[in-house]
Amino acid sequence: MVRKDQLAGEGAFVFGFDDFIFLPSYIDVEPADISLVTKFSVNIPIAMPFVSSPMDTVTEGEMAIALARSGGIGVIHRNCSADEEAEEVMKVKRAESFIIRDVLTIGKESTVAEAEKIMKEREISGLPVVEDGRLIGIITGKDVRFSNKEIRTEQAMTKDVVRVSEGITIEEAERLMKDHRIEKLPVTDSEGRLSGLITYRDISLRDKFRNATRDEKGRLRVAAAISPFDMDRAVKLSKIADALVVDVAHFHNQNVINATKKIIDNVSVDVIVGNLGSKEGVLDAVSKLERVGGLRVGIGGGSVCLTTQITRAGSPTLYAVTEAVSALEELGADIPIIADGGIRNSGDIAMSIAFGASSAMMGYVFAGCKESPSPTTLIGDKHYKLHRGMGSESARQKRIVSDRYAKLSKSIAEGTEKWIPYKGYLADVIEELASGVRASMGYAGAKGVKELKGNARVMKVSSSSFARASDMQTIK
Ligand code: IMP
Repeated sequence: MVRKDQLAGEGAFVFGFDDFIFLPSYIDVEPADISLVTKFSVNIPIAMPFVSSPMDTVTEGEMAIALARSGGIGVIHRNCSADEEAEEVMKVKRAESFIIRDVLTIGKESTVAEAEKIMKEREISGLPVVEDGRLIGIITGKDVRFSNKEIRTEQAMTKDVVRVSEGITIEEAERLMKDHRIEKLPVTDSEGRLSGLITYRDISLRDKFRNATRDEKGRLRVAAAISPFDMDRAVKLSKIADALVVDVAHFHNQNVINATKKIIDNVSVDVIVGNLGSKEGVLDAVSKLERVGGLRVGIGGGSVCLTTQITRAGSPTLYAVTEAVSALEELGADIPIIADGGIRNSGDIAMSIAFGASSAMMGYVFAGCKESPSPTTLIGDKHYKLHRGMGSESARQKRIVSDRYAKLSKSIAEGTEKWIPYKGYLADVIEELASGVRASMGYAGAKGVKELKGNARVMKVSSSSFARASDMQTIK
C-alpha cells in the first residue's frame, strides 16, 4: 500500500517541460555570441548540446556524420547485427580524417590503365606509387589523362613528390598544398616509407565544419548503443566508436548493473548508462560502477513511448534530470547528464540544461530529417518519415533490441510508431535549434551552458499564464 508519506516526487509533484518558463533576466552579450559548448560524456566535449537517439528510424551512419559535422553526436542504434552496427560506426570514422591511414597505393610496374581503373572505381584523384613500402612517386588524374595507357606508372608518375613527416599540423599542411598547388600530401617516415596521406578535400571539410565533433585524429566522433548482456558486441564496438551507450529502458536493475560492470572493466572508452529516472537509481549506478561516462535520464516520456500508458511507471525527463542532479550532488560527482525523451523544440532543450542536463537526446526531432534511415512516404501532397519506438511491434520483429525491455514485458509493445512531417536537411534543423536555444539563453541571462545551469531563474506557470496564439480569435 502506498501511503501519503511514501509519495515520491516532492509530495507527488512530478513535472514536465510545459510547467516552467524562464524569468527574463539581464544579459550583456547578443544571442549570436552565446556559446553552446558542453559535454556529451566525461571525456567528450561537444559544441552543440544535441544527441540523436539510438533508434532504427533515427541514427545510422548518415545521421551520425551530419550531426557530428554540426557539433553534436549520434548514437548508432543496435537493432541489427554487431557487424552491421560496426559498419555504421566505420562510415562515420571514415567520413573525414586529417591523415588517411589505409592509403590506396600502386606499384611502379602497374600500367597507367590499371591506375586509372582504381581511381575511377574508388573515386579518388591520385595514387602514391610505392616500392617495398617506400614512396617513389605519385600518379594523379592529370598524369593519367595525358599519358599512353599502356606504359608503366613509373614512366607517367610525378617523381619529385612534395612529402611531409608525421607531426605536421593542419595549418602547415594547408599552406604547403596551397604553395605547391597540390591536392595530395603523402606522409613518410625517416626511411621514406609511406605512413599516411593528407588530402585537400579533408582539410577543406574541416574549414567548412568548424564546430564538428572530432577525435584526436581529426575523424568525426560517434557513439554506439549496446546491450549490457552482449560483451562481444561491446568490446568490438569499443575499439572503433568513441563511446558506448548501455541501451536499456530500466537501468536500475541488479542484472543490468552487474553486467554493465563487466563491460566497463573490459573497455576503455566512456560508457554512458541509462535510462535512469530516480535519485536512488543514479546513486546506485554511480556508486556500484567504477567509471560512469554519462547518465541518460528520462523514462516513459518519449514521443513514441507507451511505457507509462501500459505500466503506469515512468519518470518525466525534466524530473529525471533533477533526480540525477541531486544524486550527483550527494556523491560529489561530476558526470554529464543527457536528458532523453519528449523533447520537441529548443525551449525544451534550454529548460533541460537549466535543470542540470548537459545535452538533450532526441528521436522525434531528428527522425524527420533527410539523413535519418527511416522510410519516406507521400501522404496527400506532403512527405512524411516514419518514427518508431524500439519497443514497438515492428521494431521488435528483428528481435535484437528486445532485451531493451524487461523479460516479462517482452510480449507487450512499449512503443508505437508515427508518421512525422519530412523536415529536410539536418543542418537546417540544427541551425534552427541552436538559434532557438541561444534565444532562450539570451532571455534567461546566460552566456553559456554553465551560466544557464547555474543562474537561470525559472518560474512555475499555471495554465492561464499566457494566452496562446491558437486560442486567439481571428477576424477574417
Ligand atoms: P523522442 O525524442 O521523444 O522521440 O524520444 C526518444 C527516446 O524515447 C529514446 O531516446 C528512448 O529513450 C525512448 N524510446 C525509444 N523507443 C522507445 C519505446 O519503444 N518505448 C519507450 N521509449 C522508447
